[in-house]
Amino acid sequence: MIRNFSELKGCRVKAVADRSAEQLALVKKLYPEVAVTSDAGELFRDESIDGVIIATPIPTHYKLAAEAIRHGKDVLVEKSFTASLSEARRLLALAEAKKRVVAVDHTFLYSGAVQAIKKLIDSGAIGRVQYIDSSRLNLGRIKSDISVIWDLMSHDIAIMGYLLGRTPTSVSATGISHTLRTVENMGYMTLFFGDDTIGHVTASWVAPLKVRRMIIGGTKKMIVYDDAEAHDKVKLYDVGYTVTRDNSQSRPRFDYRRGGVSVQKINGGEALGGLAKDFLRCMNERSLPVSSGKTGLEVVQVLEAATKSVAANGKEIKLR
Ligand SMILES: NC(=O)c1ccc[n+]([C@@H]2O[C@H](COP(=O)([O-])OP(=O)(O)OC[C@H]3O[C@@H](n4cnc5c(N)ncnc54)[C@H](O)[C@@H]3O)[C@@H](O)[C@H]2O)c1
Repeated sequence: MIRNFSELKGCRVKAVADRSAEQLALVKKLYPEVAVTSDAGELFRDESIDGVIIATPIPTHYKLAAEAIRHGKDVLVEKSFTASLSEARRLLALAEAKKRVVAVDHTFLYSGAVQAIKKLIDSGAIGRVQYIDSSRLNLGRIKSDISVIWDLMSHDIAIMGYLLGRTPTSVSATGISHTLRTVENMGYMTLFFGDDTIGHVTASWVAPLKVRRMIIGGTKKMIVYDDAEAHDKVKLYDVGYTVTRDNSQSRPRFDYRRGGVSVQKINGGEALGGLAKDFLRCMNERSLPVSSGKTGLEVVQVLEAATKSVAANGKEIKLR
């Protein structure tokens, strides 16, 4: 974050606050020109500071962001936006009252790969999206304060919302905690969209290998997005099927089309750099970031419902 904002034209990183003396020493070593303090309030009270980034653990986001907004700062909050839907609602109401810009770091929305997929979908190249199936697995970093649902699945919820341009109508999730017997270290979530579009996410901190794969199935073509690949992350598959229902036959017939695969060209710029640029542009133009506070709230709403669903053994929880 410090590097990305320091590199932006028209932006100066003035100060960093952290409770940890060790972290502050590291910042001072890497960025001697940046002031450091253990008191975040000092940044909020500094009238020469226009915008603040909150990159602390999720339970602290609401209090710190609210204080920053009350002092007239625009805020960029790490994902997940807040620890509850009620906090997200209160924070957005406060920002609206104070006319402050709120962005949330759903970094993937700024990645070249996700933007290339969005372009493909919006152009109609794959037809109507029928499903998005995502796997986000690796070994570690096991958290003790938040579940794998809040930690990893927040990415998939944000990406799906961005690609589909709508939010789910209900969610169902299951998960298990082998590690601390408290927060889930493995989770499975299904997102329903009120029609025949479905989303599914598998997430784990206890897998033997790193998987970052999303399959997007359209009525015409399909996309495989593999973020663990160094190159060729997005591939368009010219595959599909047709169903023929002939009254003279007792069973419907399925014909499969297996065409070619094409690698999609993607913009290789750093996603975090894109987010920093968008936040600065919105601060200057007083406009809405791609990953706005509203995006953050919508993701938190799904996460909160998924947590309820896990506690009720996968019960479908309505979102509207
Ligand atoms: N967007 C992404 O891809 C992504 C990736 C990783 C983490 N995150 C998010 O970033 C945030 C931080 O995650 P982390 O793993 O670095 O957490 P962390 O526990 O390492 O905390 C980050 C820092 O916050 C400091 N801190 C805590 N409370 C503070 C306070 N009240 N005032 C000042 N400093 C305080 C800590 O000392 C620590 O140095 C979380 O919200 C997490 O979800 C986002």
